[in-house]
Amino acid sequence: MQKLYINPLPVRIWHWTNALGFLLLIASGLQIRYLDLFQWLSFRTAVIAHNWIGFVLIVNFFVWFGFYLLSDKIKVYHPELSPSKYFRASFRQLQFYGYGIFRGDPNPHHPSAYRKFNALQSMMYQIIMMLLVPMQFFTGVLLWDVTRFSSVIEVFGGVRVVDTVHVLLFIVFSGFIIVHVYLASLGHTRSAHFKAMLTGYEEIEDEPTQKASS
Ligand code: HEM
Repeated sequence: MQKLYINPLPVRIWHWTNALGFLLLIASGLQIRYLDLFQWLSFRTAVIAHNWIGFVLIVNFFVWFGFYLLSDKIKVYHPELSPSKYFRASFRQLQFYGYGIFRGDPNPHHPSAYRKFNALQSMMYQIIMMLLVPMQFFTGVLLWDVTRFSSVIEVFGGVRVVDTVHVLLFIVFSGFIIVHVYLASLGHTRSAHFKAMLTGYEEIEDEPTQKASS
């Protein structure tokens, strides 16, 4: 069993702040949107909390973004430029999640400090972090002060459009968290990836008979 340092401190700080913040945003967002169904706090407190947590997470996003921009660890996010290689690796990973894992097959992806993500994670995390999270923050800031940002809101089709995008993304993130936590529990032990995101170190099982394939 070897230990690999794959999650540097800024990534871990960003990640757990972000995870807690998203859970709180979902809870307060549910109350703001579905007031008749959820009343954890007073409405006013839910709105104030939602806004503050949103701004904290926007700043936090730049911890993640700044760290990767200024570090060679950005390589973990470099996309695979050969489409055939990428699709083969994705297909192998899908086969593993959908079938191989239930037969006890080894994970086809072998992480290293600069290739910690498998093909599916690499694509998913890029879409989440470079597209969906910024869109959620942007629409959130517009909705925070619709009067101040009225001209920008009009460019995007009005409050209803901006609000619909914000709520649809909230549904996407709620689903993402469930799938993400499930997939994160599929390390060589249930807790291996969680421990790695807490300590920075991933324990890698020795697989002498296994060929490194991705
Ligand atoms: C209860 C909530 C969450 C838990 C328990 C959790 C758990 C984990 C774990 C264990 C990892 C490392 C293993 C892996 O890469 O799959 C991870 C990585 C990651 N998670 Fe989460 N997560 C949560 C919420 C979120 C949310 C809300 C987002 C984004 C909106 C997110 C985005 C990411 C990203 C981008 C990575 C890779 C980070 C990097 O190394 O750059 N997670 N998460």
